[in-house]
Amino acid sequence: MSFRMRSEFLPYCLPDITDHEVAEVVAVLRSGWLAKGPRTVEFEKRFAEYVGAKYAVGFNSCTAALHVALIAAGIGPGDEVITSPMTFAASANTIIHTGATPVFVDIDAETGCIDPSQIESSVTNRTKAIVPIHYAGQACDLDAIYDIADKHSLFVSEDAAHALHTQYKGRMIGHRAPGAVSYSFYATKNLCTGEGGMLTTDDPKIADRARVLSSHGMSKNAWNRYAKGGSWRYDIEEFGYKYNMFDIQAALGLKQLERLEEMQHRRAEIASEYNNAFAALPGLIIPRPSPYTSTHSWHLYVLRLSPAVVPLARDQFMEQLAERNIGTSVHFIPVHMMSAYTKRFGYQAGDFPVCEQWFDNALSLPLYTTMTEADVKHVIAAVEDLVRNKIR
Ligand SMILES: Cc1ncc(COP(=O)(O)O)c(C=O)c1O
Repeated sequence: MSFRMRSEFLPYCLPDITDHEVAEVVAVLRSGWLAKGPRTVEFEKRFAEYVGAKYAVGFNSCTAALHVALIAAGIGPGDEVITSPMTFAASANTIIHTGATPVFVDIDAETGCIDPSQIESSVTNRTKAIVPIHYAGQACDLDAIYDIADKHSLFVSEDAAHALHTQYKGRMIGHRAPGAVSYSFYATKNLCTGEGGMLTTDDPKIADRARVLSSHGMSKNAWNRYAKGGSWRYDIEEFGYKYNMFDIQAALGLKQLERLEEMQHRRAEIASEYNNAFAALPGLIIPRPSPYTSTHSWHLYVLRLSPAVVPLARDQFMEQLAERNIGTSVHFIPVHMMSAYTKRFGYQAGDFPVCEQWFDNALSLPLYTTMTEADVKHVIAAVEDLVRNKIR
């Protein structure tokens, strides 16, 4: 494909909001009930049905859901929680917020997800939970992870911020999860409500406690206290948080959920066009779903440069794409390299070599449903141009 300069910059990501979402949000604004209410309840119900979970609890972010999942499971000071550093800070920060210590385990070099073969050697008598991250929409090796969790009686809190629609061995992430699964509806996510999150579980105790903790620890259904038949009395059963979803978010979520299959179809089409174009180019490592990722959500399209072949460093590659009017991003700067973590835990470069190498060579290309066919072709042509002209 020959390269032609675009006249306008292609942002790395844009949300896909149609008149359907706008109308639903306006209806909520006019309804007189803006806070947590009937739309949130409806969205929780539909979401649980979609992923195949028994319970779903709406949150104002995935971060809040991840935090509450651990608190609801009784994780606290003195405990250790295993996770991987190839993630956004939320997965590890929320472990610290419980008072527990995050214990990082390196990633698998093919998938970017936690390497299950390295988990068991990090289990101590303080380990209470595992937080696996379904990176970019790739499923973690859940059978291996749950086997270790069962053996050592560990709680599993899956970080599925990227994995709505991902299937592990033919079943949706979130389908029959004994622990908890947290999703993000942040502005860049496959289903977006601006900010927002959901916790799903099959455990009624986790679901109940998550619901209570998400609203200050307030007794159940207190949100209904201004409605006819609602009671003004409430109790604070424990020291909870102001983490609940509210109806404006849920209105957006309900409409986005109705369009999710169609949006996922478009994501898969774009990913497949990228894969077909880049597989033939030397020096590029394209994302390949693992054998157990029967459906990839294609939240991110993470391309990796093979430094032996592509002489441009990743940062330069991104700068050159920006000069060609293509926006990109990086997922992720490893959490253990963040200054708050190096200061507190003394991590050093080289501690998690597979993760660090992944970070050095990875960039995320634009992948979103409002991209036109011309946009996709521009990205492909720009990457091809860079690789062909800068190749050793
Ligand atoms: C892997 C991962 N986990 C958790 C989060 C936190 O999501 P939220 O912004 O909804 O709190 C993100 C956000 O991008 C993420 O990428």
